[in-house]
Parts: sequence; C-alpha cells; structure tokens
Amino acid sequence: MRLIIATNNRGKVREYRDILEPLGFETLSQEEAGIHLEVEETGSTFEENAALKARAVFELAHCCVIADDSGLEVEALGGEPGIYSARYRGLGTEHERRLAVLEGLKGVENRRARFVCCICFVDQDGSQRLFKGVWNGRISEEERGDNGFGYDPIFIAEDADGNTTASLPIEFKEHHSHRAKAVRMLVEYLRSRPAQAGAPVIRDVRPSDAPRLLEIYAYYVRQTAVTFETEVPSLPEFGVRVSRITARYPWLVLEEDGRILGYAYAGVFKDRAAYDWACETTVYLAPDARRRGLGRRLYEALEARLGEMGILNLYACVAVPAGEDDEYLTRASAEFHARMGWRLAGTFRQCGYKFGRWYDMVWMERFIGVHGSPQPPVRWEAQ
Ligand code: IMP
Repeated sequence: MRLIIATNNRGKVREYRDILEPLGFETLSQEEAGIHLEVEETGSTFEENAALKARAVFELAHCCVIADDSGLEVEALGGEPGIYSARYRGLGTEHERRLAVLEGLKGVENRRARFVCCICFVDQDGSQRLFKGVWNGRISEEERGDNGFGYDPIFIAEDADGNTTASLPIEFKEHHSHRAKAVRMLVEYLRSRPAQAGAPVIRDVRPSDAPRLLEIYAYYVRQTAVTFETEVPSLPEFGVRVSRITARYPWLVLEEDGRILGYAYAGVFKDRAAYDWACETTVYLAPDARRRGLGRRLYEALEARLGEMGILNLYACVAVPAGEDDEYLTRASAEFHARMGWRLAGTFRQCGYKFGRWYDMVWMERFIGVHGSPQPPVRWEAQ
C-alpha cells in the first residue's frame, strides 16, 4: 500500500521509510509523490500541526499519509518553546534558540522540561489517528555534547543519568526518545489494524492458485540462478508439489487486489523422524513486488504458523554467487535472511551449475522455539 511521508526533511523520510517498508508500505516522500507543498503550521498544539500537515497531503494524494510535529516544552517557561521550537523567538540558529532557553531559566529552580512528538497517520479511507510520545527530563545549566540536533545539548532526560541527549550515543536516543515512543505506538497500531480494502492479505494456498504461483516461479527458473531448477515444471507437476506440501505444512500466498504477489511454504528438511522439528522454508515474490517488505511479511506469517505447530528449526537453502554478483544471482536473498535473524549454517562451494556458471549454496538457519526434553511432538497441519 502506498504511504506518503509528509515532510520535506530528508532525514525524517529515511528514518520513517526504514520503519514502514518492512510493514508492507510502499513509501514515498512528499517530493517523490510530486507534492510541492509547505503547509503553514497554524495549529496551537503538536497534534493539530501534525494533522494539518498530514491532511493537506492526503487531500491531494488520497492514500495513506504520515506527518509529525515535535518540540521542547519547558515548564517554567509556560510550555515554551513548544510548537515554536524550530523558530523560537524568531532566532535564526539552533545555538541561539538554546541560549534563549538557558537565559530564560537563569536563577530558576524548576528546570523540568519534556520533548514531545506527535505523529498523525491518515488511512486511505481518510480516517486519522494520532500517536504522542513524551520524553521527560530537565534543562541543563549549559550546553554539553555534539550528538543530535536542536535542543539535545541542553536536555537531560530522566533516564539519561545526568547526561544531555547530545552527549549520549545516538542509539540511546533512537531507543528512548519521544520520537521513538511515538513511532513504536504507530507501528503497533499498523501491525494490528484490520486489513483495508486493497491491502495485501496473507492466506492459505488454494488449488486454483497454482497457475499464478507457477508463473512467479517460472521467472526464477528461466531468468535467475535463485533456484537450481533449470526446467519450468508442468502445471500438473506443480499442483502435485502444492498438495504434497500442504498434507503436513503451511503454504501461504500474499494477495493484493485479487492478484497474488508472492508465496511462502515449509517442507520436509530430511525425511527421518528425528528431524520432525526442523523444516526447510521457501519464499518467492513476483519480480515487481520486491522491495516492499512483502517477503518479510510472508516469512513472519509462515514462522508464526510453524511456531504453532511446534517446529523449532528453520533451514533455508540459498543460492549465492561464487564470486561477484552477476545478472542471474546476487546476495540479496542471503542478506534478507540475515536481516530476518538467520545465521549461516554452512557453505557448499560451486555446487550448482546453471547458465554455464558454477554457483555456491549456503544453508541458513533460525531457531523459533525452545529445544526441550521431553520435546512435545509436532502438530502437523491438515491432519
Ligand atoms: P519539527 O518536528 O521538525 O517541526 O521540529 C521542531 C523542532 O523541535 C526542531 O527543529 C528542534 O528544534 C526541536 N526538536 C524536536 N525534536 C527534537 C529532538 O529530538 N532533539 C532536539 N530538538 C528537537
């Protein structure tokens, strides 16, 4: 689903994109969406300003939009700089604005302050939600530290052990800040919200899906070394594969607007009883559906199902180039598994020959449960 990040700030676009793409959104910056708009922040709260910005873009684009507004509130200054944080007292630089806050608190005992971040999410049907993150703290006596931006050199968060935000590693802020809190709320909401019309859905495979699934797979057989299969299987043969898998394991498809964009399934790792708790997993996406976080969604759904069955070990057999990437194969799949928490279990050198070249293969593994003793048996699907 398309989502526009309503800001002209490239840093914010990058941060939000990294968070939202794995959730299945195809993100566009305001600029990429061709929306050249500088919305006047005429609201009197962070919430109002975030909503103003998000709605202005929604009215033009009619797809999902997020916008945010943030700033510093100092109790003894009556909540200032507040929504005027970026232009406090009309001062031109961040340093001048920080000095103005320090000046305002000279001789004042109450130095309590908080950072606030409001994110407004407008859904494709026009409904909107606000997420507010607050980071409590106090204002320091003087500027300290070079990390961060804005008021970071004069803000000491209550959980920061007396350090200003600018004198702590950036990772601390990324995890504890007002923005991190608001983003976590947004992500939790997006993960749990009911599927929207047009949103991708993940469901069990049906026999009638076989032609489309084969079409997706055929691309990888003919044009890539991602699979070491060299002939596209016939439709009946592919149907047999699907029914053989679904006799015991899940086979999921991801569908958007009635079109299947990818699939994932698990199968036997080794046909010996002691291997029951291990399985091999496979994911394929239509070539035009990559880089939207859909592979991750399929994998997460598959893992959830396998976890319910009592499966513990997942194995993926991934083709990799023996040297440099080439036109048939890159390291993208192995890197995707690594990002998903898989680790390398072994490398098989030059073990596949396709398109007149030798390719390596790696086994990757991931544990999704606890190995116990006694170990309860696996609950096979469809039995
Ligand atoms: P905006 O949300 O981009 O409008 O930012 C408003 C202003 O609030 C920024 O220019 C900063 O001065 C201040 N601000 C917001 N978040 C932070 C932060 O995390 N650290 C320091 N200053 C911040």
